Amino acid sequence: MAKPAIYYTTPIYYVNDRPHIGHAYTSLATDVLARFKRLDGHEVFFLTGTDEHGQKVEKAAQDAGEDPQAFTDRVSQAFRDLTVTMGFSNDDFIRTTEPRHKAACVALWTVLAERGEIYLGDYEGWYAVRDEAFYGPDELVERDGVKFAPTGAPVEWVREPSYFFRLGKWLPELLRRFDLPEGDAERIEILPESRRNEVRAFIQQGLKDFADRPEKLDLSVSRTSFKWGVKVPGDEAHVMYVWVDALTNYITAAGYPDTNAPRWKFWPADVHVVGKDIVRFHTIYWPALLLAAGLPAPRRVFAHGWWTNEGQKISKSLGNVIDPVALVEEFGLDAVRYFLLREVPFGQDGDFSRKALVNRLNGELADALGNLANRVLSLIQRNCEGKLPEAGDPAVGGALMAGIAALPGQVRDRLDRQEFHLALDVVMASVRDANAYITVEAPWALKKTDPVRMAAVLRHLHTALRCHATLLQPFMPGTAGAMLDQLAVPGDARAMADLDMPLPGGIPLPPPAPLFRKIDLAAA
Ligand code: MSP
Repeated sequence: MAKPAIYYTTPIYYVNDRPHIGHAYTSLATDVLARFKRLDGHEVFFLTGTDEHGQKVEKAAQDAGEDPQAFTDRVSQAFRDLTVTMGFSNDDFIRTTEPRHKAACVALWTVLAERGEIYLGDYEGWYAVRDEAFYGPDELVERDGVKFAPTGAPVEWVREPSYFFRLGKWLPELLRRFDLPEGDAERIEILPESRRNEVRAFIQQGLKDFADRPEKLDLSVSRTSFKWGVKVPGDEAHVMYVWVDALTNYITAAGYPDTNAPRWKFWPADVHVVGKDIVRFHTIYWPALLLAAGLPAPRRVFAHGWWTNEGQKISKSLGNVIDPVALVEEFGLDAVRYFLLREVPFGQDGDFSRKALVNRLNGELADALGNLANRVLSLIQRNCEGKLPEAGDPAVGGALMAGIAALPGQVRDRLDRQEFHLALDVVMASVRDANAYITVEAPWALKKTDPVRMAAVLRHLHTALRCHATLLQPFMPGTAGAMLDQLAVPGDARAMADLDMPLPGGIPLPPPAPLFRKIDLAAA
């Protein structure tokens, strides 16, 4: 039976900034999920792209002395280039300035308007241009008589006609869906659990505060104060609020409004991977808009944490923005990919430090995995005429091979929960087991005393390394691929299911070469 089709998304990135480590991180995590599911036999659609409308972009273009379209073309390209530099396997790259996207926004709006989910009113409140958000009076901070948003952005009092979406009426339904049991098709899952609790509490508070004025919970979804956006159908003085425009990208790429499009089978998204700062947009506005339009809501939203740099908040003004391209040039792509997902539990904040990076790479990749592979492959070269030994006595494999048999399932379970660090943890624990096994068995000493056992030990180790390399492919596509080359695993035998099919004994192995270089911390 065919495995279910899977849809993963990254947020679409604002083009008022150059790509940095935070952007690379969100997409990297999503890339690993996509690559893993493809290896596991699923048809996957992996989407990323750029968010190009709104007042901030209009202003950034103005500041750069450029026409907004020319400006967004240029910056969007930097994000597209990053997908290549980082080795992302996205199936599409969406830009919100594309005609297909504008058509989807207009179609969604029209459906919402026809269903009575959108109405015209007046909006007034404290607005921060920088955040593209309104803030409640109690959220503001006052300094020297001037009001600021909690983010530190300046705010101004704004009153304008605006269309509203009847968000308030959908909130109880969202709470119901958050609480449905696992496996229920209508469930909307928010991970990690702490974020789910936050979102629930936020909605509950809103419902309590505005029990007698539920319209206060409605969402202003249009603006007349700027032009750079998708025009509201039938009332062109308005452009759509940037978040309605942005979120819609996820269905645009699936073919909306054509629900007969080949890609529509991927909707609803299995996981929207987002940063913790944009959880509410994805868990409240987005599912509510979809439900109001009669469309299925996403199955899961996973919110990851934020990186700091050597203990400090990353910001342009501090000048400590980490450029992923420079990191890749310095340490190599796979090393960076490995470190980012290994170091910090996905969902928590993490600190980027060169020392931590070098220690991880040297300790786990060069010493543990690299040395193991090199020892095993060199012994096969020297002691087995460079040919893969026949499968030997299973009893000789013992606990190591029992662990290897369980490993793919353990990695799958962890990745199904977006626990990247734990997935790598179990692989590395198995690498350590293999290192302990080779020390105990000492196959180099068996050559004279028990060559049959030596061959069996090396064959078991080869099987273990094949499993490790197969499972590491999503994380380190290049290095894991090189390792599989050295193990003589054919290109069409590198999927999860292939792990159940042993390679024939006697096939020649190419001469081994080092897979990882050791980094000198002082020099790094
Ligand atoms: N355009 C919106 C998303 C719209 S999705 C329909 C947006 N763009 S963004 O470019 O500002 O941010 C994109 C992602 O980068 C967010 O998920 C955010 O959490 C992530 N990061 C930005 N800085 C980060 C760190 N310092 N660390 C980790 N991730 C960070 O929001």
